[in-house]
Parts: sequence; structure tokens; C-alpha cells
Amino acid sequence: MAPRIVDASFLTSASKIGEAPAEGIGEVVFLGRSNVGKSSLLNSLTHRKNLAKSSSTPGKTRLINYFDVVYKEDETGEKYHLHFVDLPGFGYAKVSKSMKYEWQKSLNEFIRNRRTIRLFVHLRDARHPHEPIDDEVKAYIGKFIGPDQCYLEVFTKSDKLKQKEIGQILRERPGAILISNLKKRGIEKLERLVFDIVVKGIPCP
Ligand code: GTP
Ligand code: MG
Repeated sequence: MAPRIVDASFLTSASKIGEAPAEGIGEVVFLGRSNVGKSSLLNSLTHRKNLAKSSSTPGKTRLINYFDVVYKEDETGEKYHLHFVDLPGFGYAKVSKSMKYEWQKSLNEFIRNRRTIRLFVHLRDARHPHEPIDDEVKAYIGKFIGPDQCYLEVFTKSDKLKQKEIGQILRERPGAILISNLKKRGIEKLERLVFDIVVKGIPCP
């Protein structure tokens, strides 16, 4: 049996890096455009309905939310703690310019300077796989990512795609990870991959 998440709980919210928990435990951050399904994916992965608040109204997540997540390895029974971090979405327009700027600044500071981040999970809407803002974010992370950190692209809402469209994404990007929170597709595979990367230290795919 694959390692599974057996427990998850809310830890704390931070509005800037100084308020985040002491560095130490490996962190997995979920980032992406507003409404792409970050909070929903956190719930899917942890097998919980409402651990992270999801909403059809973009801009739901406004703070850096920390969750303590416990993986259990079946063969050994050994448990491993990780922190999952749910970030506010970018590209959310309905806030004032100055607030947007403040957000962006503290988010940038957070993702650049937090050395305990082991894995960046960048969520992209499978229906819009070529959004320029997502390409920019990918390039941006590529510039500062350290040798002990990994970047993973995950395409969400695969349930909204026809088989043909899924095929097209896979042709363009062989090995692309597609998930559906609605149909719970691709979730177990990702659950395991996160463990293998962060706990087992397998090379970044
Ligand atoms: P912000 O917190 O605003 O940045 O959004 P978020 O990225 O956390 O998105 P959230 O998880 O709140 O989901 C946004 C909307 O998309 C909700 O209405 C979800 O039900 C829906 N949604 C999330 N994942 C999926 C999916 O895989 N398939 C479908 N069809 N809908 C999804
Ligand atoms: Mg959210």
C-alpha cells in the first residue's frame, strides 16, 4: 500500500512571512490563480470536506494558511509530518490596487525566502493551459528555486475536459499531472508523489 495522509489539521494563518510557523518541517505550498481549486485540492488530498475553505467566489483564501498533515507509511507504520500551505490566489481583481500590491509583495517575499519550502505545487486550470500569467509565475519560480526544492505543475478541473482535450495536454506536456477534485481523479497519485518528493527525496520529475 502507498503512503497515505491519515490526519490533517489547521495550524495557523499568517499575513506575512514573519507570522509563519518556525521553519523546520518540510512545506508544500499550493499556488495558482484565484478559483483554480487550491483549497479544494488540499481537501481532496487530506480526504476532508472542509479543512481548507473553498468557494465559487474568487478570492476566498486571503491569508497564508498552514495545515499540519500526517502521512503514514503502510509497511513500516511510520508517520511523517508535513506542512501544507494554502496561498491566496493571484490575479484576483476585486480588491483595491494598494491591497493587491501589499498581497503580492508579502506573497513574493514568502515564496522566495521561505527555505523550508520543499515543493511548489502550481495549479493551472486544464481548460486554459496557456494563460500568460501562469507562464510568468512558472518562469519567476524557476529563477529563484533552490537545488533542494521542487516545482510541480498540476492541471485542475480535468472533469470539465473532453478526452480529446486531455489527450492534447498530454501530447504537449508528456507526463502532465491532471486532477479533478470533483471526480477525485488523479488525487491518490499526487498524494503519493508529494510524499515521494518531500519525504523520500526522489528527484523532481
Ligand atoms: P482562491 O482561494 O480564491 O484563490 O480559490 P481556490 O484556488 O482555493 O479555489 P477553490 O478550491 O475555492 O475552488 C474554486 C471553485 O472551483 C469552487 O466552486 C470549487 O468547487 C470549484 N472546483 C475546484 N476544483 C474543481 C474540480 O476539480 N472540478 C470542478 N468542476 N470544479 C472544481
Ligand atoms: Mg482558496
